[in-house]
Amino acid sequence: MTDAIRFLMCAPDHYEVDYAINPWMEGNIHRSSRDRAAAQWQQLHQVIKDEAIVELVEPAKGWPDMVFTANAGLVLDKTVVLSRFLHKERQGEEPYFKQWFADNGYTVHELPPDLPFEGAGDALLDREGRWLWAGYGFRTELDSHPLLAKWLDMEVLSLRLIDSRFYHLDTCFCPLTGGYLLYYPPAFDAYSNHLIERRVPAEKRLVIAEPDAVTFACNAVNINDLVILNQASDHLKRQLAQVGFRVRETPLTEFLKAGGASKCLTLRTTEPVLLDHHATVAVESKTIQLQGHLLDSGLMNRALDSIVENGGSFKVLNFDLGTERQSTSQAEVRVSAPSHTVMEDIMRQLIDLGAADLPAETHDAALEAVPQPGVAPDEFYVTTIYPTEVRLNGRWVRVQDQRMDGAIAVTQTADGAIARCKLLRDLNPQEQVVVGIDGIRTVRNPESRAQRNQGEEFSFMGAGVSSERRVELVVEQIAWELRRIRDQGGKVAVTAGPVVIHTGGAHHLARLIRDGYVQVLLGGNAIAVHDIEQALMGTSLGVDMNKGLPVRGGHRHHLKTINTIRRCGSIAQAVEQGVLTKGVMYECVKNNVPFCLAGSIRDDGPLPDTQMDLVKAQTDYAEAIVGVDMILMLSTMLHSIGVGNMTPAGVKLVCVDINPAVVTKLSDRGSVESVGVVTDVGLFLSLLVKQLELLTSPYPAIATV
Ligand SMILES: NC(=O)c1ccc[n+]([C@@H]2O[C@H](COP(=O)([O-])OP(=O)(O)OC[C@H]3O[C@@H](n4cnc5c(N)ncnc54)[C@H](O)[C@@H]3O)[C@@H](O)[C@H]2O)c1
Repeated sequence: MTDAIRFLMCAPDHYEVDYAINPWMEGNIHRSSRDRAAAQWQQLHQVIKDEAIVELVEPAKGWPDMVFTANAGLVLDKTVVLSRFLHKERQGEEPYFKQWFADNGYTVHELPPDLPFEGAGDALLDREGRWLWAGYGFRTELDSHPLLAKWLDMEVLSLRLIDSRFYHLDTCFCPLTGGYLLYYPPAFDAYSNHLIERRVPAEKRLVIAEPDAVTFACNAVNINDLVILNQASDHLKRQLAQVGFRVRETPLTEFLKAGGASKCLTLRTTEPVLLDHHATVAVESKTIQLQGHLLDSGLMNRALDSIVENGGSFKVLNFDLGTERQSTSQAEVRVSAPSHTVMEDIMRQLIDLGAADLPAETHDAALEAVPQPGVAPDEFYVTTIYPTEVRLNGRWVRVQDQRMDGAIAVTQTADGAIARCKLLRDLNPQEQVVVGIDGIRTVRNPESRAQRNQGEEFSFMGAGVSSERRVELVVEQIAWELRRIRDQGGKVAVTAGPVVIHTGGAHHLARLIRDGYVQVLLGGNAIAVHDIEQALMGTSLGVDMNKGLPVRGGHRHHLKTINTIRRCGSIAQAVEQGVLTKGVMYECVKNNVPFCLAGSIRDDGPLPDTQMDLVKAQTDYAEAIVGVDMILMLSTMLHSIGVGNMTPAGVKLVCVDINPAVVTKLSDRGSVESVGVVTDVGLFLSLLVKQLELLTSPYPAIATV
């Protein structure tokens, strides 16, 4: 027997699965056998007694889970941090454990009442005593970790649990003598796995597979070279034997029904203090403010979800709910993250949602010089579509040329600092770039519920993707909007792919251009080639557009078309020379509607008008959409995504594609201004033209195509 090692256990006199507070309990309520549980507990008790001293705490009636003493608290030397149970079903255990610790001469630390921490279930000492592994995600709150570090004067490494079956750290993670670690990696998020791998060398990591994980092989008691557990596969036994551990299986099936095994049933009360350990913890916290229609716009949910999904935790400190229909709400949220890196990831997303630091805690944005032309400093802030402001010299400065996936370049002038969104390739060493997350905020439009819901144009569009049966309604609304923009002298851009031509949409699109509904056309080589092929030869990629059948020798039409335009010099010259007399490109030339054709690796020819320098093509696109009110994205994933990335918030986007995934990707910009229409583009254009005709009917009829 090892006299120095002591454990605390609690007899299962009142043990029962009485409620369900973890997935193991579900379906097992009142299904455990008290006699079998008693026998299994006795056997475990004996196995441990053979190796160490076991002390007992008196079981209390009405608290069936008290048998799981691992959750009494976390002990280090003569100090204990008492558990604060998350669930009320276990909170009644706290005074009994507190009494036992006090009676046995421990200094007891208690967490604030609203800060859950479930003891040695969620906090495991590295068996070399170098640091404390602390879990969070289900039962224990991340904010308890800094207090553990302070009270125990120890480094705390925070690990996030993501599989509800492994709701406590000790269900999937077991530090062993000699710096070994038995664990089940899928129970942790990527950041935590990375942290584990950095701290524990590969040869000391004993990874278990799911079948062992679900029989609670990690919920083991380790005493020197002995590992006591419910059950282990032959493979696991061999794995442990190879690195010098003896395995002792002792069945604990009755306790598995409540989600616990040998480790849960014991609390080691002799954890030695190492003299050279120090209190450090990577957990960071900060308080942010959110403002707007936080509930009905879903902003609050999205903000809190993004904190948790990224590995942080939160506490809502204040929520001031706007009481009138029009009034906005305000919230103050304390955000905690297990490390600075995770905090930065979380804050970047919160900034995109319009979150800001509390005024008293706001700093200037951090700037770093551009290290070389076209290269940003490593930690540069990546811009979004939303209007952004950065705090420079104590003043909020609006970022110009807003677009997504850029950096914020700052230049100092006599009149103050100027901030601009720039693509990486355009950065130059005279500029500084905003890095980190301080002093950056995005300005979200706090439109009211009424504004969002009133029956005006596009009010329906917040819902995103439209199903087939809604297409006609959507088209009607788009027609109204196109009409309004045209009548007010606004600007509409169309990005279109060759499918527009194949589906018979060419003459409808040509009509829209001729009637003044389109102010700029963006596409690639194909839309122009197919359109001109149809205009010159009546086929699109060799298919007769009237009969829908391939024509003899039709495959040559495509290249002949390209050749014809190349001979003319350009599309405009082909129109001028009377070679091209109809179609989409013809109408663009005739109506002075500028077009940009961006090249791609697929392109045949290309046409002389196709810009094969992609950097130049991107610049042309960006210039073409300046001041645009609406963009119609018609069946081209490539060009639509390209345009979407350079479009700031506030521009209405209509994405038409037969593939819902493409539509969702383009519409899902967190912006109420975008809508997706899942339908055939030819059908969409014909409906749109028809709808515009109806709108125009009180006026002189539009010439038919
Ligand atoms: N010969 C050529 O030069 C040639 C030929 C084809 C494409 N290209 C070039 O390749 C690049 C990519 O071409 P892309 O934009 O056509 O391809 P893309 O894959 O980016 O987009 C095509 C989109 O059309 C959608 N679609 C298909 N049928 C549809 C229908 N009936 N109604 C609505 N949507 C439908 C698809 O779901 C897809 O999202 C472009 O630059 C284009 O110019 C060149």
